[in-house]
Amino acid sequence: AQREMSSLSRVYVTRQIPPEGLKILKESGQVQFELWDSDDVPVPRKELLQKVKGVDGLLCVLTEKIDKELLDAAGPNLKVISTMSVGFDHLSLEELKNRGIRVGYTPEVLTDAVAELTVALLLTTSRRLIEATHEAKTGGWGTWRTLWLCGYELANSTVGIFGLGRIGVAIAERLAPFKVKKFIYTDVAPRPELAKQINAEYVSMDELTKRSDFLAMCCALTPETKEICNKNFFSKMKKTSIFINTSRGGVVNQDDLYEALSTGQIAGAGLDVTVPEPLPTSHPLFTLKNCVILPHIASASYTTRNAMSALAANNLLLGLRDEPMIKELQL
Ligand code: DGY
Repeated sequence: AQREMSSLSRVYVTRQIPPEGLKILKESGQVQFELWDSDDVPVPRKELLQKVKGVDGLLCVLTEKIDKELLDAAGPNLKVISTMSVGFDHLSLEELKNRGIRVGYTPEVLTDAVAELTVALLLTTSRRLIEATHEAKTGGWGTWRTLWLCGYELANSTVGIFGLGRIGVAIAERLAPFKVKKFIYTDVAPRPELAKQINAEYVSMDELTKRSDFLAMCCALTPETKEICNKNFFSKMKKTSIFINTSRGGVVNQDDLYEALSTGQIAGAGLDVTVPEPLPTSHPLFTLKNCVILPHIASASYTTRNAMSALAANNLLLGLRDEPMIKELQL
């Protein structure tokens, strides 16, 4: 039994992940794992730094910063990081690359769920649904009024996508039946294969901000996109436009967004992501009627979160066996 134990890879799992992934790890017969057995609070940093000592693999979620300090604490055995997320801005890629540590992540399995939520958030924001239910419940509903709670419609609109990848395409596919007139997108370079699927035109960032009636952020958070939605960006947008962010809060300068929303520079914003998360309830953005804030739930369907959990577990096991992962980040 002693020999058998030592031949198993040692793994730390930083969260009580959905059951499908845990089942895969348990039944693999390949790993001996320890788990931070909660989904309600993230593992405290101090505890994490202790637990990773000597592990071969780490399965984490986006609340864990995987940086030099953590990798030093883990030591030389660590060869695989598997994150249960498509985003990887919580990982120091340079450090991982230098140490030859492989990285698994979970693209594709969440695309449908994220696109679906993005459409829901867009309509909620543009048709002022949160304000409307509040008014109905709290006595604000008087007679039927001609311009009360009017918003903006998708029909005949121009929808701009910032960062055209799988998710941007999936959002556009869902919006098209609402009779959108035109899809435009910007990215570091044209992406003709993807653009063709939704008949989208490649434009500069400047044009995207100026022409979009609805502007959806669908990019990764990188040094290049950090706070790219700033004063200058919002100042070019139409007063009637709606800004939607389901990517990462870090792409937005929130002070500048507050300014744009409170002065009527843009009509509304729907955010599923903020800085920090959770956003303190005292944050000024919460005081604005034209800002809808969700607590980072775009991929939150049972099916998708279980698929992400399973994919993260499988990536980890494959990486530990020195085999190609199902979804591996090229560093
Ligand atoms: C991700 O996967 O990066 C999301 O933010 C959570 O699903």
